[in-house]
Amino acid sequence: MEEEKFPIVITAALPAGGTGKTPFIRVYGEWKARQGYKVAMLDFDHQCSLTELYDVFETNKTTLNIFKGGEVEYIPVEENLWLVPSHPNLQYEPARLRAEGTQNIYFLLEDWLYEHEEEIKQFDYLLIDTHPDTDTITKNALAVSSAQIGVVMPTEKSVNAIPKAEQALSDLKRETYDKRHDEARVTCEFLLLGTNIEKVGKNYTKLSKQLVHLIKEDARFVGYIPHKELFAQAMSDEKIPIWEQVNNQLLLKEASNRAFKVVLERVMSNMDQRIGEL
Ligand SMILES: Nc1ncnc2c1ncn2[C@@H]1O[C@H](COP(=O)(O)OP(=O)(O)OP(=O)(O)O)[C@@H](O)[C@H]1O
Ligand SMILES: [Mg+2]
Repeated sequence: MEEEKFPIVITAALPAGGTGKTPFIRVYGEWKARQGYKVAMLDFDHQCSLTELYDVFETNKTTLNIFKGGEVEYIPVEENLWLVPSHPNLQYEPARLRAEGTQNIYFLLEDWLYEHEEEIKQFDYLLIDTHPDTDTITKNALAVSSAQIGVVMPTEKSVNAIPKAEQALSDLKRETYDKRHDEARVTCEFLLLGTNIEKVGKNYTKLSKQLVHLIKEDARFVGYIPHKELFAQAMSDEKIPIWEQVNNQLLLKEASNRAFKVVLERVMSNMDQRIGEL
């Protein structure tokens, strides 16, 4: 955790709605924070789902100001964990930036990070949550990221979004390639994570079985998180952090909860390893 280094930047992005991106950012952010790293989560989705998960209703110093100018606040949400909330008007930014003829439209976040180097270097990780699209705001996030994590559920819609995400990332790399220095400006790797894989009794459901098969074949998959009610509950109602749930002694009396804890920790460790290799 050196002071001098830029944080590792990871973005959850897939152009399909409701595939588990926001839950992943939350779970991975809390995992890294509990390991002692300083983590800032940036909500780049104008739906503000991550922001609402932490019951934050700040509307002034939001991620909108990264693009529009103005102050941005890092709101502490847990030990070692901060959130920069989103704003509904972030949805109008791509059109506004284009209408204004903004130059280097995919590197506005990069410029902002360098302008705020001092405060940014206090973090070990920046985790960015995105809207399910491949538009300008999402591309700004990918342009500064070491990895894009495409979070995929056992649904046709989310599996179909994998090649779309892949295409968008390679388009971004091609469009921003620095021909003069013969150098890539965007170096983001594409990784995948399965979630909500479901079993009925001992057997996977049809779609889950297909996705597990795909996960085994495609080396970009880091692993998968099985379907678990406890996980869903951590993202709704009381929104108790999943790591508090899986360490709750009462809940751990149940074998299925103990098993889920082991699996979730293994997936998170695999993610650490893959990110470490980038
Ligand atoms: N392993 C799991 N077990 C149970 N529920 C899960 C699991 N993974 C994800 N979910 C649930 O799936 C839902 C999908 O999350 P959410 O809609 O926030 O995804 P998203 O990709 O961020 O959506 P959007 O594209 O709208 O930003 C959440 O309610 C979450 O709790
Ligand atoms: Mg989301």
